[in-house]
Amino acid sequence: MTSRELFEIIEKKTDFTDITEEGINEYSICSAFAPVLEYFKSIGVHVYLGTGVSKAALVFADEDFVFKIPFDYEVSEGIELDDYCAIEAEYYHDAEIDGVDAYFAKTYFYDFIRHDGHKVIPVYYQEKATPLDETQSIGEYYAEMDSLSTEKKQELFAKTSNYWGTSRLSIFWVQKFIDYYGEDAYPAFGTFIDNHSINDLHRGNVGFIGDRPVVFDYSGYEDGDS
Ligand SMILES: Nc1ncnc2c1ncn2[C@@H]1O[C@H](COP(=O)(O)OP(=O)(O)OP(=O)(O)O)[C@@H](O)[C@H]1O
Ligand SMILES: [Mg+2]
Repeated sequence: MTSRELFEIIEKKTDFTDITEEGINEYSICSAFAPVLEYFKSIGVHVYLGTGVSKAALVFADEDFVFKIPFDYEVSEGIELDDYCAIEAEYYHDAEIDGVDAYFAKTYFYDFIRHDGHKVIPVYYQEKATPLDETQSIGEYYAEMDSLSTEKKQELFAKTSNYWGTSRLSIFWVQKFIDYYGEDAYPAFGTFIDNHSINDLHRGNVGFIGDRPVVFDYSGYEDGDS
């Protein structure tokens, strides 16, 4: 199916009851998309709803993209959560300008899911990736780490800690990044990450598109204290 056909089904099957009452959050988006997921299942379209702190994603097994939805709840009185998908789309555009877009899953605004003619749920398009924590279990991760020499580990840790934002990255993923893009790619990547204050690069936010290492959650996250 095309992305447009899938989108139209989503729009038709969404239940807006809880969204109308409490905005877009993990609970209301799960409730809104329950009939969507049920319908897709009945017609043999494999899809799951991934959620995080600031976004949800409809991940289609047989497509090379996901639809992402930003949450919009009030973080404190009168203060709305930023649209973290819009931030991603903006950073992707910046990455294109800086020539570092290959390292990020492509993201752009797609459309609004409308209800009674109103634009209710913004939907973003993003290239689908396989998160690192799905391709490699924690056990495999530590085995891989153990197999690296101390020197190799130190070299990779030194690389990641040159940049505040990349210091949490899995060195296994960093090794793949260097193998794929070359040694010289890392400084441009790290600099972009830091200039955009992208943090939170844990194993559930980076991964691969085929063998291409990418970051797919790059909006960063500001908790109330920072
Ligand atoms: N491009 C993608 N390809 C595959 N799955 C994705 C993609 N983008 C998001 N997901 C799934 O949706 C989940 C939520 O998306 P994302 O990580 O962007 O949201 P978040 O709220 O910023 O997460 P976090 O809790 O890390 O702050 C992911 O953990 C992942 O399971
Ligand atoms: Mg995430």
